[in-house]
Amino acid sequence: MCGIVGYIGERKAQDILLKGLKRLEYRGYDSAGVAVLNRHKISIVKRQGKLSVLSTELSGRPLAGTLGIGHTRWATHGAPSHKNAHPHRDCKGKIAVVHNGIIENYLELKKNLKKKGHKFLSETDTEILSHLVEEHYKGNLEEAVRRTVKMVKGSYAIAVIHEDEPYRIVGARCDSPLIVGLGKGENFLASDVPAILDYTHDVIYLDNHDIVTLTRGGVSVKDLSGRNMRKSPSRIKWDISQAEKAGYKHFMLKEIFEQGDVLRNMLEERIDKGRVVFNELEIPSKVFRSLKNIMIVACGTAYHAGLTGKYIIEECARIPCHVDTSSEFRYRDPVLDKNTLVVIVSQSGETADSLAALREAKRRGCKTLGICNVLGSSIAREADGVIYTHAGPEIAVASTKAYTAQLAIFYLIAIYLASLRKALTASGITSLIKEFGKCALLMNELLGEYKSEYNALAAYAQEFKRYYHAKHNKSYFLYLARNINYPNALEGALKLKEISYISAEGYPAGEMKHGPIALIDENPWVVCIATQAKTHDKMLSNMQEIKARGGIVIAMVTEGDKEIMHHNVNYVIEIPPVRELFSPLLTVIPLQLLAYYVALEFGYDIDQPRNLAKSVTVE
Ligand code: G6P
Repeated sequence: MCGIVGYIGERKAQDILLKGLKRLEYRGYDSAGVAVLNRHKISIVKRQGKLSVLSTELSGRPLAGTLGIGHTRWATHGAPSHKNAHPHRDCKGKIAVVHNGIIENYLELKKNLKKKGHKFLSETDTEILSHLVEEHYKGNLEEAVRRTVKMVKGSYAIAVIHEDEPYRIVGARCDSPLIVGLGKGENFLASDVPAILDYTHDVIYLDNHDIVTLTRGGVSVKDLSGRNMRKSPSRIKWDISQAEKAGYKHFMLKEIFEQGDVLRNMLEERIDKGRVVFNELEIPSKVFRSLKNIMIVACGTAYHAGLTGKYIIEECARIPCHVDTSSEFRYRDPVLDKNTLVVIVSQSGETADSLAALREAKRRGCKTLGICNVLGSSIAREADGVIYTHAGPEIAVASTKAYTAQLAIFYLIAIYLASLRKALTASGITSLIKEFGKCALLMNELLGEYKSEYNALAAYAQEFKRYYHAKHNKSYFLYLARNINYPNALEGALKLKEISYISAEGYPAGEMKHGPIALIDENPWVVCIATQAKTHDKMLSNMQEIKARGGIVIAMVTEGDKEIMHHNVNYVIEIPPVRELFSPLLTVIPLQLLAYYVALEFGYDIDQPRNLAKSVTVE
């Protein structure tokens, strides 16, 4: 949700800022801008629209200078427009500010600033920051930023430059991520690691209320009272090539095809001598032995992983699990106690509602566990323990490999708990681990079927588009499943609506007769996940009911399912046979690809769908 980059060194700042913003574009893309300081003069260029609009503009008239800040925006206060794009200036035009987050008391601050004669040009909350810095500036930018952030309520990651101090960038953070990249004779500031990986692998993760000053030769971090803070740099192990498309048309497609490897790496890392190991986990095993229930909290795709996690943990470890969306959890009064483990699932580790839910759980005395993908993220740091998914950078806004990695972690947690609490026999544990291992191979096998551009799912997507137009754009998707695959029905629907803007709903198939069946005529395409033996007959009945009312059925079944031939469904998707408990790892793959191909058919921007952002750091 908005990306920030800052650079100070000897190279052309503009190039580094644009490259960094490109890698942060997943955080927001409705406008972008840069401010470059050269010979005591700040030049700002900003444009509404994607970063490419700004890049084209700057290629025609490049900005000279080796110090600058840049921003790519996801609008919160003020529509996406040129005047609301960052950077924002003060009245004298000597200061430039970029910001990620929301200043909640901006109206009150704006009123006071206006009384003092400050003139505002935008509708943003951010603009008050440049005016506050102006108000507090007495020859020391760091001090002015410190005084400014002490006055604001809300979340922020900011970068500030001043014409009178052409040798420094000052940054600050509270509840929005900000990292420092350490170079030789140059330093960087960014919202996320990919922005700086071309230049350095050494980073400092800033904490809330840190104020950082970057010069060419060094970096200093202080707290709000001006005390020096000691920060140890971390070394980033992955490479920038992982954040590139590697020949794929879209990041989403690349990330879908990476899922087999993600699972394989997880097996190598997490299974040792037939046991599950979580090396980074700082919660003592006695906590897991004594816990009475588990509360899983997350947003979006991570929430769907949590829903599946409930089925897995309850089946394997026999511990009652509840699942809630973070935005609901934090405002209700859940029944929790010190024997409740609250598990926060978050790819980015920065989602504002999930972070707030984590803090609420801690306030209530619960032990907290983060399942995160981004190393050093806020949730990873604030939870009592973290398990990393290690899926590598996920760039496409629609989450795919992070989802299967989260599912995989739930299998491992369930096995870990089952073995600690003796909920399963040793041979039961061994057989689960074996089956989990098999899944990585089966996933690669399944993905192999869709490697060619002209595969069955791409053909179904083409058919859908034709049908959609023939039905005067009234067609839409329903996803039905039962039991452990029900969350995948929700996830399949979410993927489709996220990137193709076509209406899609996921339902537990048994609920069809309580309402959704009233919708069925010849318009909907209904994806029915019928891979599980336990509920196979029931799913076949659902398909009959849909067909009888004119709906189009795509049946997802296990290879070798002969019965489906007698049911006159329109399309069939097969997945390799796997133990039911593990089937969500496989059934989700065709759903992700189907969403991808539908969006491709309709010609939408798959990696950067409208109105969405990958990391939602505002409430
Ligand atoms: C946004 C993203 C989704 C993601 C959700 C939760 O809505 O577009 O892809 O699932 O946030 O994000 P998190 O980083 O907490 O998993």
